[in-house]
Amino acid sequence: MTIGIDKIAFYTPNYVLDLVTLAKARGDEPDKYTIGIGQNRQTVVPNFEDVVTMGANAAIKIITADDREKIDLIIFATESGIDNSKSSALYMQTLLELSEFVRTIELKQACYAGTYGLMQARDYVATHPGRRVLVVASDIARYGLSTSGEVTQGAGAIAMIVSEAPKIVSINTDSVYMSRNVSDFWRPVDRQEALVDGHLSTDIYKEMFLTLWQRYQLKTNQQLNDFAGFAFHLPYTKMGKKALDQIINEATLAHQQKLTHHLKASQKFNREVGNLYTGSVYLSLLSLLSYATDLKSGDKLAIFSYGSGAEAELYSVTLQNGFENHVPAKMTQQLLLKRQLVSVNQYETMFKSQLYDSHININSNAVKDTKLFQFLGWHNGERV
Ligand code: CAA
Repeated sequence: MTIGIDKIAFYTPNYVLDLVTLAKARGDEPDKYTIGIGQNRQTVVPNFEDVVTMGANAAIKIITADDREKIDLIIFATESGIDNSKSSALYMQTLLELSEFVRTIELKQACYAGTYGLMQARDYVATHPGRRVLVVASDIARYGLSTSGEVTQGAGAIAMIVSEAPKIVSINTDSVYMSRNVSDFWRPVDRQEALVDGHLSTDIYKEMFLTLWQRYQLKTNQQLNDFAGFAFHLPYTKMGKKALDQIINEATLAHQQKLTHHLKASQKFNREVGNLYTGSVYLSLLSLLSYATDLKSGDKLAIFSYGSGAEAELYSVTLQNGFENHVPAKMTQQLLLKRQLVSVNQYETMFKSQLYDSHININSNAVKDTKLFQFLGWHNGERV
């Protein structure tokens, strides 16, 4: 049975900060942000949105009546959830008006959890033919004002429906994965902003990618030339280049050019949004599918998922016949183009108003009020 991603959608809030403006305000060289780190703009989250409203706004774009009948399980991956007990997937069930006869669960392992969700979804469909799983990866990446990680903040949600006979990509059963207890990035329960040793994280990421790439080759006998492209977890877009640079010489010269071209395609959306933790690698996949117009059905793409702490997984997907008709490229481009630019002052005010002590439980207000959700939502491909 072929199983994989049947539908995918992305949502990010309507406000955006230009990073050249931020660099000037912080006394940094703009080129450091746009070239050295590889980020142009970042999403700013208003205090009436959170991971649940973002996740629901992504999922509402793809869920049909048929899905409502066939979804048995909602998997919600996040590291910036709204409750320490109750799963964000339960709120999704209400907002999306899904059946009571579903399983709902939230997963956490830094930026990696969405990939585990996808693997669980694939395995569930394999043992329950005809049934479907909704996987949501939604996060707000918050490092703090004037911190070294500030330039890599961002937010957004990816929603995917996993089914048999998928329309976009099949998920191959060739994963290699590893876990190692490292303190490169973490967020103790009393903190709303992440603690990060960005340089250590970059080193661990590169090392885990190289280790898993070698392990993958041993396991599958595949070479770099067998892949049309990569989608990487992108805490900042330069990270993908740093990882790929370690192995790119293994490909023929012509293929190196293709991989480089496709790497740029896979970074485009992420450059405009920033880090979205769990959803980042799947936004990169969506970006690759949206901009690499020379991809064709049967092509194989490698996916590298990394979550600080640290856990990583490398696996491949195969493009399905007619996949290009089901990739929401224009809708995603429009979403990003239509965002409202905010000044550094406005961003700082919005950032502070997101923190718990400056507003009253916005999360439950937002998710209980269906009218507010619809206000934040989409109708016929347009932001309402
Ligand atoms: N023009 C062009 N390039 C310039 C430049 C200029 N004027 N000035 C500097 N640069 C380059 C530097 O040479 C450097 O390039 P290389 O990395 O290729 O050497 C780059 O810009 C960055 O410079 P620095 O290393 O000096 O910058 P920094 O010390 O401020 O750190 C950072 C940058 C590490 C990305 C920092 O912003 C950070 O820590 N961000 C957070 C990263 C993160 O989240 N890591 C966790 C990864 S996993 C994840 O997403 C979390 C999870 O799992 C939950």
